[in-house]
Amino acid sequence: MRPILDDRLRAPEKRNPTMVPLKRRRVVSSCDSSTSDVSNTNNNRIKFQQQVLFLLERKMGSSRRAFLTRLGRSKGFRIEERFSESVTHVISENNSGDEVWAWLNSAQEEGGHHGQPPAPPAVRLLDISWYTESMHEGRPVEIQDRHTLQEPQQNAEELPLFSVPSYACQRSTTLHSHNLLLSDALSVLAQSAELAEDEGRGVAFRRAAAVLNFLPKAISAAEHLRGLPSLGEHSLRVVQEILEDGSSREVESTKQSDQYRAMKALTGIFGVGVKTAHRWFKLGIHTLAQLEDSGQALNHTQQAGVQHYSDLNQPVTKAEADAIGHLVETAVVAVSPGAQVTLIGGFRRGKVTGHDVDFLLTHPEEGKEDGLIFKVVAWLEAQGLLLYQKITKNSYLESKEGPSRSASTMDRFERCFSIFRLDQEERSEEGRSLDDGKETQKAWRAVRVDLVVSPKSQYAFALLGWTGSKLFERDLRRWAGHERSMSLSSHALFDIKQGKHLRADSEEEIFAHLGLDYIPPSGRNA
Ligand code: CTP
Ligand code: MN
Ligand code: MN
Repeated sequence: MRPILDDRLRAPEKRNPTMVPLKRRRVVSSCDSSTSDVSNTNNNRIKFQQQVLFLLERKMGSSRRAFLTRLGRSKGFRIEERFSESVTHVISENNSGDEVWAWLNSAQEEGGHHGQPPAPPAVRLLDISWYTESMHEGRPVEIQDRHTLQEPQQNAEELPLFSVPSYACQRSTTLHSHNLLLSDALSVLAQSAELAEDEGRGVAFRRAAAVLNFLPKAISAAEHLRGLPSLGEHSLRVVQEILEDGSSREVESTKQSDQYRAMKALTGIFGVGVKTAHRWFKLGIHTLAQLEDSGQALNHTQQAGVQHYSDLNQPVTKAEADAIGHLVETAVVAVSPGAQVTLIGGFRRGKVTGHDVDFLLTHPEEGKEDGLIFKVVAWLEAQGLLLYQKITKNSYLESKEGPSRSASTMDRFERCFSIFRLDQEERSEEGRSLDDGKETQKAWRAVRVDLVVSPKSQYAFALLGWTGSKLFERDLRRWAGHERSMSLSSHALFDIKQGKHLRADSEEEIFAHLGLDYIPPSGRNA
């Protein structure tokens, strides 16, 4: 007859049903030493020094873990309360190997270790059966296949071991994604949510897509993503479906839906936001042609948007961006010698195409940038280079910016949203061929251009704020607020605890103020 102890060794579900089940506490981390049973010092002499055991509380429950720990220690086993690098055996119950790895990843992250978890051969992931058999034998039994959750070799070869910090500004995300098929699918859902004015849902899918783009290799199973930040059940479900069936029904039906297509077409018009597009959609206007036939009143910006619709929906190439950059520099040098022009936005991050071209203008002498935008735009207009322009004056006053205001996503620089007329000579050969078959070849194309002017003292903040990506910017501000009690904008960084602004002459200094490792523009493609 087996002693009572044996019954308690069994997993809770398999125990005698008349026993009162041990209540499973919700515990954030198995490392939590608040479970006093477990944290009792080990009064028993350790007989087996080589095996350093760690019992994972996840799914086991704290009481059962405490019981098993006491039992093991009484038999001379070395059992750690916290996971550390010295652990050689991780014991878990009802967990898959992937789940244990995911837990180890997140435990490392919470502990402030952003590196990879220990390499597979260093730690064995074992099922509780190895432990219970060892208890019966009174010594660590030989590890059999049936005890192991994963073959160590297989771990190294097939299982991506990911450690993903939760803020995009803590990670370097390049343009070379290994999971573009998956992240593109999630981006469709993100866009669909944004077009439905559900910003929270939109950001959630954007974050999930960004994590996939960060991973160092292509993932082959959704389980490998369990435990990673920002990947909620919905995103995981979509990923799983694509990996198993090749596509996601939800994503495909979204792409085909009338509302998604119409909203995309209408917001694709420069000057048309989600609200306006939605109002038109409800009136039965789903396409540009229907809009033109509808007799809807269009503002000046929207008229330009309609007029240059096809050009503005054709991606701008890097060659075209460089040609525009040349024009802007010529204009700036002509009206304000000494003033500087910097390419910002997606092209600064290394993108090869964009929906527009963004430039930041400044002058080394503080104050000399004041009014620069008017002079530059007047010069460009005189050359016949602008098809549309709208200038916004600078409305930023540091003295008026408190922590409550300066975190706004909208900055208040002097700026100009414009449409350039780019001569065909400046265009690449590929760009030229796209127009073939359409009317007679146009001698120019329309290109959206954003010009922003900042005083030298705010230049580093403007550069950081306008280089993007949008998600990277969002997470920089979130990090500043939540993790550092600071408020970051494209104008300044305000330390709320110290009650003062922190100066910076470079992006590197801003990252340093924020306690972040510097990430170059090419790594900000989250
Ligand atoms: N931005 C901003 N305020 C605006 C518009 C844009 O601060 N009113 C910032 C965005 O946060 C982004 C950068 O300017 O970081 C560039 O914006 P945008 O041109 O829209 O995006 P890109 O990243 O350049 O992407 P694309 O290549 O499609 O232009
Ligand atoms: Mn841009
Ligand atoms: Mn832009």
